[in-house]
Amino acid sequence: MKIKNSEKSFGVVAQVFHWSVFLLFVALFVVANMMTEMPKGPEKFQLYGLHKSLGVTTLFIVFLRLSWRMANPVPTPSTKVSKLVNRAASIGHFLLYAVMFIMPISGYIMSMAGGHKVSWFGIFNLPVFIGKSKALGVLAHGIHSYTAYFIIIFVSGHLMAALWHHFAIKDGVLHRMLPLKEKESSAINKEEVNQYV
Ligand code: HEM
Ligand code: HEM
Repeated sequence: MKIKNSEKSFGVVAQVFHWSVFLLFVALFVVANMMTEMPKGPEKFQLYGLHKSLGVTTLFIVFLRLSWRMANPVPTPSTKVSKLVNRAASIGHFLLYAVMFIMPISGYIMSMAGGHKVSWFGIFNLPVFIGKSKALGVLAHGIHSYTAYFIIIFVSGHLMAALWHHFAIKDGVLHRMLPLKEKESSAINKEEVNQYV
């Protein structure tokens, strides 16, 4: 198992980033649904705190993840699908990165504009660099809520694409994000490079 990405597969660091963000997103959506449905009280308040702490953690991890990606080669696109499909995959990955940033940043702005402190698991408070503003709060809330729907759409498309590669194309693209031996991924076959161009 390699630490860094290679031409054939994502390395273990990129894989850990990928799957930890996946788990954080699941937790954030579950907590968000629970906290918004709950009647007012201390538990609701605690869940808001947990949601914000997990969200800020996600922002930090996504920042590290993008930096790592930029410092590493990205595995070569599958040679078993057309260039157009690979282009769609790159656009999809770009959109996923966009929502990974928009979501926590809009949440942070929403809290600051609402005049609420953002604490990281009660250990320290994050800096407040925006004053109370109803208009900004409403805007950030709107962005946060709508982006949640976009996440569901983009991640569903991404999941379907991963399953399509795995079961229909059988090019081992799914293995590139799983801790398996590199040789098990056959997404790159030099002889086939121009077959579908
Ligand atoms: C990637 C990170 C995040 C994800 C995936 C996420 C997800 C969500 C979702 C799905 C909702 C429910 C939306 C709705 O129906 O209105 C929500 C609400 C909320 N989020 Fe986040 N969130 C993230 C980060 C943050 C951060 C960093 C903060 C603040 C520091 C935050 C603060 C809030 C607040 C205050 C609400 C409740 C809004 C309301 O009362 O309607 N979120 N979040
Ligand atoms: C639902 C389960 C998921 C599966 C099965 C899955 C699968 C994969 C696979 C197989 C790849 C490698 C694609 C390639 O080699 O070209 C990949 C890459 C990627 N995935 Fe996912 N994924 C999932 C969830 C997510 C989530 C929740 C996000 C972000 C919100 C995400 C964001 C990305 C991004 C940005 C890449 C590009 C590589 C990188 O920079 O990390 N994935 N995913």
